Parts: sequence; C-alpha cells; structure tokens
Amino acid sequence: MYKLRCITCEKIYEPSRDLYTCPHCGDRMGTLEVIYDYDNISIKKSEFYPEGDISQFSKILPINQYVVQLKVGGTPLYKFKNILGIKELQVKYDGTNPTASYKDRATAIAISKAYEFNYDTIYCASTGNAASSLAGLTAPTKLNTFIFVPASAPIAKIAQLYVYGANVIQIDGTYDEAFDISMVVGKKLNWYSRNSAINPYLLEGKKTGALEVIVQNNFEPPDVVLVGVGDGTVISSLFKGFYDFYKLGLINKIPKIIGIQAQNADAIVRTFEKGKPYTPVDITSSTIADSISVGKPRDVIKACKYVEKSGGTFLRVSDEEILKAISELANLTGVFGEPAGAASYAGLKKAIKNNLIAKDEKACIFVTGNGLKDIKSVEKLIKPIKIKPNLEEVLSFINEVKS
Ligand SMILES: Cc1ncc(COP(=O)(O)O)c(C=O)c1O
Ligand SMILES: [Zn+2]
Repeated sequence: MYKLRCITCEKIYEPSRDLYTCPHCGDRMGTLEVIYDYDNISIKKSEFYPEGDISQFSKILPINQYVVQLKVGGTPLYKFKNILGIKELQVKYDGTNPTASYKDRATAIAISKAYEFNYDTIYCASTGNAASSLAGLTAPTKLNTFIFVPASAPIAKIAQLYVYGANVIQIDGTYDEAFDISMVVGKKLNWYSRNSAINPYLLEGKKTGALEVIVQNNFEPPDVVLVGVGDGTVISSLFKGFYDFYKLGLINKIPKIIGIQAQNADAIVRTFEKGKPYTPVDITSSTIADSISVGKPRDVIKACKYVEKSGGTFLRVSDEEILKAISELANLTGVFGEPAGAASYAGLKKAIKNNLIAKDEKACIFVTGNGLKDIKSVEKLIKPIKIKPNLEEVLSFINEVKS
C-alpha cells in the first residue's frame, strides 16, 4: 500500500518494524518519505467532511488500523476579511486537539503503528507538546510511555505529563540533548520511537492539518500558508498533505509554504539560505517560543526541499514580534496561541511587509498550540490592578478605562 523512500539517496525501502531512517544516509540526511501508489487509490471529494477526525483520511495514512479514541483533528478553520489588508486571513487552530496542540495528529499515528508493530513501550523526546500529546493519547491504552523532556519546558506542559500518568524523564539540558539521549536509551531497550523526523509515520499524521484546510476550503487551496518551525516536520507535513491531494487530482495547485523561525533559533533558515545541496547548519537555540527552540533540527532536509518545491521560503521573527503577535492575534480573532503558534502570525506580518504576499491573496496561518500551555510568556500583559469592591471605586475605574 505504501513504501518508504530516503529523502537524500532516494533508495526505496519496504516498511518494517525497526526501520526508521535510511541506513546509508543516517538519521539526519536519511529521513524517509512515505510514498503511495496514487494510481491505485480511489478517493472522492465527497468522502471528507470538515469536522471529521483524522481517521477519515485513512486511505492515505500508513496504518492498518486507527486505534485512537480521543478526537484528533477536525479542528476549526476561521476566516477573516479585512485583517492586515489581505483578501482573507484563515486561522487553522489546533489548540482544540485533545492535549491542545498540533502534535496529537502525529501521536495518533505513532500509537496506531506501535500497536501494529507489537511494541509494549513507546517513548519520545520533546520540547513539550509531543511529550504531553504522547502522555495524553497513550493514557487510555496498554502502552507504557516514557517521556524525555527538558526540565525547562513550560510548567503547564510538564504538568500534563504527570496528570496523564506518563513516566517522565526530566533532562537537565536542552531539547537537542534530551533527543540524543532518548535515542540511545530507546534503541538499547527496544522501545518504539515517537521522535520527530526519525519516525517517518509522524509526518503522515501531521499532514492531516493540510488536508483539513483543503476540505474546509471546499478544495480551493489558499494561496499561501505559514507555520512556526522547529525540527521542520510540521512544515514538511503541510507540503506532503497538499502534494498527496494534488497527485490524487483533488486540488489544482499547492500553496506557497512559508516557515517561521525565531531569530535565535533559526537553524533551518540558515540551512535554506546557504542553498543546495542542503546540509544542516546547527546552532545553539534560544527563544521564548519553547516549542520551536531547536538547534539541531531533525527534519531540516525535508523542510528545505519541500518549501523550495512549494515556491515558499523561510523567515525569522524576533521574540518581541512573537509576543506582540500573541496578543494582536487574540485581540483580532479570539484565537490565543502559544508563542510557537502565534509565530505564524508574526511571520505573516513580516511576509506582507516584505511583499511576499499580495493584497488579493488568501493566507492561512497554523496556530499549532493553545496559549494556556505557556502563560509565563504573556504574564507581563497582566496589569497589577486591585480595586476595592465598592460601587464608587468600580465606576471610577470604568470611567478611566473608557477615557
Ligand atoms: C506548538 C508548536 N508549533 C510548532 C512546532 C514546530 O514543529 P516542528 O518541530 O515539526 O517544526 C511545534 C513542535 O514542537 C509545536 O509544539
Ligand atoms: Zn539514503
């Protein structure tokens, strides 16, 4: 039904239980693509509906059986006119997923694969959201779950892990360090890996966000989509989703894809700017947008190749721009995204300013995580006001606010 192909040497592999990346090209250069025989897939537009969970796309998902019960996907797409002077702003809001981020899409597929491959334990390293997602979606299953997370992750994300009852390994180090040690442990103990990029099936789960945007647009794609970028899997998955629907004849164009990174966590922007052949430029990352604070992005090759194919690009935004974007987006649309989620809006403003998006175009931003996951970064918006509970004082305050 599907095969795996190396992103670098293009060698094709039969899927198997322990195959994650191309043995010739290694974990970084040899991430695998899931490829389908499009000619033998019969699919109709009328099969899909906007509120369905991701299992509605099973014909183009690499799983035998979808085993997740909580509702993953079917998240809202909001449409606004008259914002930032473009024809339409669309907001794909994934904060409504079961554990409040985009990562549930990937986790749902990883769990289905863990069952299929008969593993009893699944693990991941994560900046926080993949971790809470794995903890939450495995909670009602028989799988044992081990989570490697930087101890510095936002408290709400760490709290989720303990609430769901996962085994938590808080690492005194960066996400990149947590990732590397998790790989060593996972291999040694023969656990199933839900690590970004390494596991080729995660991207297939994530692509459902793009498929939903197409269904919610009645198969008329927006002109451009924007998303925050850390490891580069989410952005790669958007291209893959559009590409699948394009190859199946369900849409007639692939939107331009613009990836947004934080100024001091811009490893993929640097790699992209250096040009072909893409070779990873690793850095030490630092940004308030913890979910995209990645110095050694694992899906950098796919991200660069796919974004180039889409005719898109990558942009940097500062932490100040991200912070401003959180409240501006919430004020204008009612959507409260975590920093990495609102980075797409900060990037949209920059893209419009740089003439990358025309006035008559429709842009879709992906808000990939719920703002309540990281309150600390917006704490300074809270005004230290205390008013006595009497009518006079309250009315005088209201007058002050109105003036
Ligand atoms: C909220 C949010 N947005 C964006 C991303 C970026 O995804 P990727 O690391 O696949 O580039 C992540 C990844 O953790 C995330 O949690
Ligand atoms: Zn290879």
